[in-house]
Amino acid sequence: MDRMVSYIGFAEIQTLLRRIGTARFIAELAKEIEADYRRWSDFQHSPRLASHSATGVIELMPATDGKLFSFKYVNGHPANTASGLLTVTAFGVLAEVCTGYPLLVAEMTVATALRTAAMSALAATYMARSDSRSMAMIGCGAQAEFQAIAFHTLCGIRELRVRDIDPGSMAKVERNLRSVPDLVDLRIVRAETTAAACDGADVITTATADKRNAFILTPSMVRQGMHLNAIGGDCPGKTELDPNILLLPTARIVVEYERQARIEGEIQRLPAGHPVHEFTDVVSGAVTGREHPDEITIFDSVGFALEDHSALRYLLRLLREEGAGTRTIDLVPALRDPRDLFGEVLGEAEVGRQAAVQPPLCATTSS
Ligand SMILES: NC(=O)c1ccc[n+]([C@@H]2O[C@H](COP(=O)([O-])OP(=O)(O)OC[C@H]3O[C@@H](n4cnc5c(N)ncnc54)[C@H](O)[C@@H]3O)[C@@H](O)[C@H]2O)c1
Repeated sequence: MDRMVSYIGFAEIQTLLRRIGTARFIAELAKEIEADYRRWSDFQHSPRLASHSATGVIELMPATDGKLFSFKYVNGHPANTASGLLTVTAFGVLAEVCTGYPLLVAEMTVATALRTAAMSALAATYMARSDSRSMAMIGCGAQAEFQAIAFHTLCGIRELRVRDIDPGSMAKVERNLRSVPDLVDLRIVRAETTAAACDGADVITTATADKRNAFILTPSMVRQGMHLNAIGGDCPGKTELDPNILLLPTARIVVEYERQARIEGEIQRLPAGHPVHEFTDVVSGAVTGREHPDEITIFDSVGFALEDHSALRYLLRLLREEGAGTRTIDLVPALRDPRDLFGEVLGEAEVGRQAAVQPPLCATTSS
């Protein structure tokens, strides 16, 4: 039986994205994620395992629905870009539960940007005002263009106000987005300050990277009716919002998974009992994403393993449908006798090595 494991590296995801387009990828993935949040009780939930250091964090994110199991390895090292490295890199594995055999090994640096964008825009379809047309994008690093495409595609955003402390990053986002044919109707404005970017925006996305409790947004930048998509605060001691925003009487906070968000999200800075809603309840209709047009809705996103599970499953389906640059790897041996691992991996070689290193005693004594 062929037990080769499918492999998606940077080259394969590049081929897939160029073939089907980033907007379609994000829109289809958002549907997968939404369907998985709808069947929340099928999944085992646990906060991710995080290993913190002075410079960042390395995390393992497992998820299973009883049929498929997945995990993602992901890091977050905000100072990396200063030495030419990404802040976030990732790879993941999808396996079948019935045998425990891996089906797919995939790069997830790009896939994480895609799934985060899909999740952000999906949440906004439930939480932002439906007439939202303008978004402030605070932080113009690796995630930014994906967020812009997702909000343009799923939420009808037609004006993007970009802001970054690094002018080169703002220029990069503008240049990249202007080269996307689907975005001809997206107006891009570079802002001098975060306050200027937020002034008049319907949605604010914060995607900055700094390992501290930052005050990227303060209450004076936030107006009634706004939707805040806060993705950069995702670790203990790494947040972006002034907690007074979360405490505003008209603020409505939605998180992916409360147990994890209390540790890693913006709400780590609030008292433990402060009310929040989980996204699964919004998707199921148990609670509404937005009660009235004046509410300030806040999606306090840290990234949950279920979203990576959806992404890996979607990637495997795309590979099978599109066959784009399909590669397989011999991660797991295919043995004639599954109990003879030793014999197949080095049985004959080991016999040969022994023979070469130690000639039979009788040969030396007879010479
Ligand atoms: N919630 C999630 O699911 C999720 C997923 C992926 C990444 N993230 C987080 O999102 C953040 C952004 O990720 P990235 O890969 O784009 O990082 P990045 O390092 O590529 O980009 C961060 C950008 O923020 C800018 N910045 C820093 N401080 C700023 C400030 N005060 N004002 C304006 N801009 C500022 C930097 O100049 C940089 O351009 C990170 O904190 C990352 O951990 C969250």
